[in-house]
Amino acid sequence: MKDKFNREINYARISVTDRCNLRCRYCMPECGVKKLSHADILTLEEILRVSKLFSRLGVKKFRITGGEPLLRRNLPSLIRDMKKISGIEQINLTTNGVLLKNLAPELISAGLDGINLSLDTFDEKNFANLTRRRLFSHVLEGFQALLKQNFKNLKINCVPLRGVNENELLKLANLARNNFIKVRFIELMPIGCAWESGLRGIPTAEIFSTLERNFGKLLPVYDKNPLKGPAKYFKLPNFIGEIGFIDAMEHKFCGNCNRIRLTAEGFLKTCLSFDLGLDVKKLLRSDANDDEISEKIREVVYNKPREHFFNDVNKFHDSRLMNQVGG
Ligand code: 5AD
Ligand code: SF4
Repeated sequence: MKDKFNREINYARISVTDRCNLRCRYCMPECGVKKLSHADILTLEEILRVSKLFSRLGVKKFRITGGEPLLRRNLPSLIRDMKKISGIEQINLTTNGVLLKNLAPELISAGLDGINLSLDTFDEKNFANLTRRRLFSHVLEGFQALLKQNFKNLKINCVPLRGVNENELLKLANLARNNFIKVRFIELMPIGCAWESGLRGIPTAEIFSTLERNFGKLLPVYDKNPLKGPAKYFKLPNFIGEIGFIDAMEHKFCGNCNRIRLTAEGFLKTCLSFDLGLDVKKLLRSDANDDEISEKIREVVYNKPREHFFNDVNKFHDSRLMNQVGG
């Protein structure tokens, strides 16, 4: 399906829970957030139904997010069922890795195509400080489990933060030297509680030059895949993996945005930055049939905003936190 700026929308991010077993400072307040009740969040059957509708409308790539999606019971069976929907080419997952070690085999056998592991630090103390939980060893074990199984599409997501993981960025990038993985640096976005918590991001350009100074020239990797995301990838001399950058603060990628988001509560968000969208849950729980719901989705997606306006505080933004939206 297309929006009014002629962008082809073929990618959906589906949040399966707003709960999380970490409390990353830029994402969630210490006390957590008001928990949604079971009745508030979509059932697996409802998620499957929406996935079918999305797929009929031309969505080919899905990402399962949270909160922490591995907290959702029976997630591997949802992935297995989604993989059977015709037209779905790729299902990926973004996780903090705490529960990954035990679940990895089941996820892989369900047909999961890719995993993005959020890992801002490789240091136990820094991890405890940033996530407010002492669970680094679990994440490390999850990461190692995937490497051991030669999982083919593994990415590390790192949000560089001034004075927090600043001195670890080379170490993190270095993970791509001997592993076939992509290490991605994502600019901190002014959503969630990033700003209030006093955290400041590090601009992509700065990391780019630090890496070049230490590891040599970053050579761009060209990718014509229409399902590709906003990250730009690079090769470094003697690295078998790749380095990726997402410079979120620029509007550069809004023009090619191909995505929509479904919150755990079943709200279809057409832009990360705005409250705009459609209460799909309400429709799913009404007597509307598939065609009627599809039509509503198509209409709302058509009106997707042009860009995020992160830099303009006067524009209306969404008050949802990151754990409710899934990144
Ligand atoms: N800016 C950038 N990235 C963020 N994430 C969470 N909050 C922010 C933010 N304010 C990232 C997490 C994780 C993914 C789900 O989103 O680090 O990798
Ligand atoms: Fe949980 Fe991810 Fe938010 Fe951290 S960033 S608290 S892991 S949802």
